[in-house]
Amino acid sequence: MRYKIAPLFCRPWTLNGISPRLIESHYENDYGNALRSLNAITAELEALDPATTPAAVIHRLKRDEVALLNSTLLHELYFASLGGDGRTLPELMAQAIARDFGPVKRWRDEFIALAHGLAGGPGWVLLTYVPRDARLINHTTAGHEQSLAGGIPILALDMYEHAYHLEFGANPAAYVAAFMRNIEWDIALERYQNAVKVEPPPRLIQKQFADLPSITVEEVKGMIGSGKPVQIIDTRPRHYSTRAHEIMQGAVWRDPERVDEWIGELSKAEPVVTFCVYGFHIGCETAVTLRKAGFDARYLVGGHYAWKAIKGPLTLLEDTSLSGTGRVMRRIQPEEQSADSPLE
Ligand SMILES: [Fe+2]
Repeated sequence: MRYKIAPLFCRPWTLNGISPRLIESHYENDYGNALRSLNAITAELEALDPATTPAAVIHRLKRDEVALLNSTLLHELYFASLGGDGRTLPELMAQAIARDFGPVKRWRDEFIALAHGLAGGPGWVLLTYVPRDARLINHTTAGHEQSLAGGIPILALDMYEHAYHLEFGANPAAYVAAFMRNIEWDIALERYQNAVKVEPPPRLIQKQFADLPSITVEEVKGMIGSGKPVQIIDTRPRHYSTRAHEIMQGAVWRDPERVDEWIGELSKAEPVVTFCVYGFHIGCETAVTLRKAGFDARYLVGGHYAWKAIKGPLTLLEDTSLSGTGRVMRRIQPEEQSADSPLE
């Protein structure tokens, strides 16, 4: 057997308003069944030949495998989430919740609302740490299959009917209240402290431009919206731009191979943002050239497509602007950025 049963983490006789009978039934019948079924499916998958087995069969088995594996993981977390008094948050846990939710009451109200929203249907309410964002989030799942990619759940509330019906009947709100009274915050803290050790996914790093100042599309949008002056230069290669139909609204296109011919149009009193198609070499190299010439230049992370991805306004790229190095350079006016682009 690949997967082993985990011992019951909480001590059922210590729980407040949740009986040992309910926990025993849940552990034996639901968690136990998930683990046994998971092992059966795992054995089935290992025995088949993926080269000759119908794809639909493999798809079904793998889908069930994920659901059962998640079920075992979440049930183990659920049993570990119980056993405390629900009220006493360790200082570090309270700080983390305050950072990401505001007052603990706000976290609690949202968590309970999610549970009530799930009442009558299968699913979980989870408090999950997301290493990419270095923050906690409450969320639900509609079944065992869903999960937050890369997230590490640290607290779990089982809202399947089997988790409460035996004792609370058709009153899930009473069950949710009982769960909240029994949260074991010390264990949640331990899991949180383990979760924050997980490194976020690797960021895109261009080693040759590691020291070059950059700016995000969100920051540029914020500058424009607040009326801060900024000179935005689209330096997509000419061969690319002649096929392009749109340009970031307020930007001007300039030929990256003819910087010397247009650098004199720029003001050193205002920041410059340069970008290319995806934010790789050309926008960076242009920013390097401009910085060497004494400009406050940064490259736009993600380039033209990152701007499109946040639905930043676009305008038509006119052929005339591609006829030379580009034409009139001017400051961006905030009102130019406010209208939605007709291209979007
Ligand atoms: Fe369950």
